Amino acid sequence: MKTLGEFIIENQNQFEYSTGELSKLLNAIRLAAKSVNHEVNKAGLVDILGVTNKTNSSNEIQQKLDVFANEAFKNALINRNIICGFASEEEDSFIRVLDQNNKATNNYVVLVDPLDGSSNIDTNVSVGTIFSIYKRVTEKGTTVSEIDFLQKGGNQIAAGYILYGTSTMLVYTTGYGVNGFTLNPALGTFYLSHPNMKFPEKGHIYSINEGNYNHFPIGVKKFIKYCQEDKDQRPYSSRYIGSLVSDFHRNLIKGGVYLYPSTLKHPNGKLRLLYECNPIAFLSEQAGGTASNGTQRILDIEPKSLHQCEPFYCGTNEMVENIYDFLNE
Ligand code: AHG
Ligand code: MN
Ligand code: MN
Repeated sequence: MKTLGEFIIENQNQFEYSTGELSKLLNAIRLAAKSVNHEVNKAGLVDILGVTNKTNSSNEIQQKLDVFANEAFKNALINRNIICGFASEEEDSFIRVLDQNNKATNNYVVLVDPLDGSSNIDTNVSVGTIFSIYKRVTEKGTTVSEIDFLQKGGNQIAAGYILYGTSTMLVYTTGYGVNGFTLNPALGTFYLSHPNMKFPEKGHIYSINEGNYNHFPIGVKKFIKYCQEDKDQRPYSSRYIGSLVSDFHRNLIKGGVYLYPSTLKHPNGKLRLLYECNPIAFLSEQAGGTASNGTQRILDIEPKSLHQCEPFYCGTNEMVENIYDFLNE
C-alpha cells in the first residue's frame, strides 16, 4: 500500500510552478498529526484530561488538549520555515511568520481547528483536527495581513482533517478528489487506505444536536420531521458524535447530512467559517457532496472576520438540497 509520503511526492506535479513548498507543508501537518495522536492516546494515563483556566476567542473554555494540539501544529508549521502566516481557533489573532532574514518569503497561510470535538476528550470519544491552506494574496516578501486569511473558501489550495478514532486517519484534498490515509501505529506511517473517497448517492443519516430543536428555524424542524416519517426508505437514522470531523467522516462513508443551524444561543450557528466550515465544505464538494449555510454555497462566502460563524448544512447532495428546499419554502 502506498504511504502518504509517497503519495505527496507523486502528486506534487499537479501544481503548476510547484516548488515543493506545499509538499513540505503537508509533511509538517503529517508530523504534527502523529504528535497529537500520540498525546490523545495517552489521555487518562498522563495529566492531559480536563480544562485549563483560559478561554479562546469564541469564549469557550480551553481543554488541555486544545492547547497541546494548537502548540503542536503551530510549532510544526512555524519552526520549519514553510508558511508565511498561521491562524487558529485557539488564537485571538493571526500570527505572522518570518524567515531567517526577517522576510515572509513563503507562499502559504494555514488555518487550523487544532482539536475538534474537545468536549469528547474526557470520555474517550473520537476527536479530530481540521486544516485549511491558502496562497497569500499580498505580495511575497512582505509580512502577511488579515486579507490573506479572509479569503473565500473557494480559494483554498488544500484542506483536510485528522480523525483520532478507533484508528487514526488523515483525509485531505488538493482539489483533485479526496484521499484517506490510515496510520499504522506500530510503524508510525500513514497508508493510502481510502483512495478517491465519494459520498454514496443516497444518504440515510442525519446528524444534528436535537436538544436545540425548539430554537431551530422552521425549515430545519420540518426536515427533521421528514427524516422521521415512515415513508420510502425513511425513517432515517440519527447519529451525532459532537465532533464535526467524526460526524462528517461517518456521513462521507455511509451517506448522510450534518446540520448546525442558527439557535438561540448561537444565532449564526456555532461552527467557525474559516476553521471548520470552509475546509469541510471543500472536502465535501471534492467528494461529490454539498455544503451550504442555507442561503449560499459555503465556498462563495466572503469572510468578514477571523472567528466568524455560519449555519452549516453539509453532506450528500440530495439531503442538503432537501434541507435547502425546506428552509426556503
Ligand atoms: P470544537 O471542539 O472545535 O469547539 O468544535 C465543536 C463543534 C463541532 O465539532 C461539533 O459538531 C459541535 O461543535 C458540537 O456542538 P454542540 O455541543 O452544540 O452540539
Ligand atoms: Mn471544532
Ligand atoms: Mn477546536
